[in-house]
Amino acid sequence: MTQHFLTLLDIPADDLNRLIRRAIELKAMTHAGERYEPLKGRVMGMIFDKSSTRTRVSFETGMAQFGGHAIFLSPRDTQLGRGEPIEDSARVLSRMVDVVMIRTFEHEKLERFAEHSQVPVINALTDRFHPCQLLADMQTLLEHRGSIAGRTVAWIGDGNNMCHSYINAARQFDFRLHIATPEGYEPDADIVAAAEDRVTLTHDPRAAVEGVDLVATDVWASMGQEEEQEKRRRDFTGFQVNAELMALAGPEALFTHCLPAHRGEEVTAEVLEGPQSITWDAAENRLHSQKALLEYLLVR
Ligand code: CP
Ligand code: NVA
Repeated sequence: MTQHFLTLLDIPADDLNRLIRRAIELKAMTHAGERYEPLKGRVMGMIFDKSSTRTRVSFETGMAQFGGHAIFLSPRDTQLGRGEPIEDSARVLSRMVDVVMIRTFEHEKLERFAEHSQVPVINALTDRFHPCQLLADMQTLLEHRGSIAGRTVAWIGDGNNMCHSYINAARQFDFRLHIATPEGYEPDADIVAAAEDRVTLTHDPRAAVEGVDLVATDVWASMGQEEEQEKRRRDFTGFQVNAELMALAGPEALFTHCLPAHRGEEVTAEVLEGPQSITWDAAENRLHSQKALLEYLLVR
């Protein structure tokens, strides 16, 4: 059966741990200027229904460094945007390219594409999950703190796609996750229920950050929620990650944000740019961890 990467649960925990260790090796090779081209002649199709900077550039660069090629497909200039069924697009594209990544709205659309694809499909963000970001975040935590198992992470803010992927990561990488959201913005109950032993929910960010190794956050209004921006700004009052909250977490605690960030909303510039922030390393690690993912899916 074709191996897809629609959520972190699609890859066994041991393999995920090996994958982020391999990402650290691939990073060292890239920094040393070593050429490694295991995907010569292989092609990736990249379907973007939403904007992207990091995801697009990291996948395109990764394919180029691996000796392959990537094709950017936007709904504006493909038949996907004119209503060609997702099933037909999947069948046709996967007869041509070797791997497909998709960033879209409904997670179910990604699943339908994968069902009809002969080649691996990678989730490059849906409304429900963003597993590629978690590969980078876990690689970065490993680089800065060593082994992840047994650690504690706080998620502060919206119970969104990133939060859902942190919950899956808590299961796969074996850490405890304290989630603090405003009332009404909790993560989906089914995702929480499946990770019950690893996750605690609260509406108090101060309680959530106590004694954690990593504090993570994200924008209050995700792509597709632009019209809720004002309401969310009000509802998320008190959920900003600032120096005061980081002080409760302790001097050893790290901070990360998947980016793009809204300084002065979910995080202050001081924290984002401060010594505890591993945000920029995590952004770079999108490249290395996704190369490790491509190698895992295509070179085994
Ligand atoms: N973090 C992330 O996925 O960034 P982009 O939206 O720029 O791809
Ligand atoms: N939750 C954000 C993540 C962006 C990388 C969004 O979906 O817009």
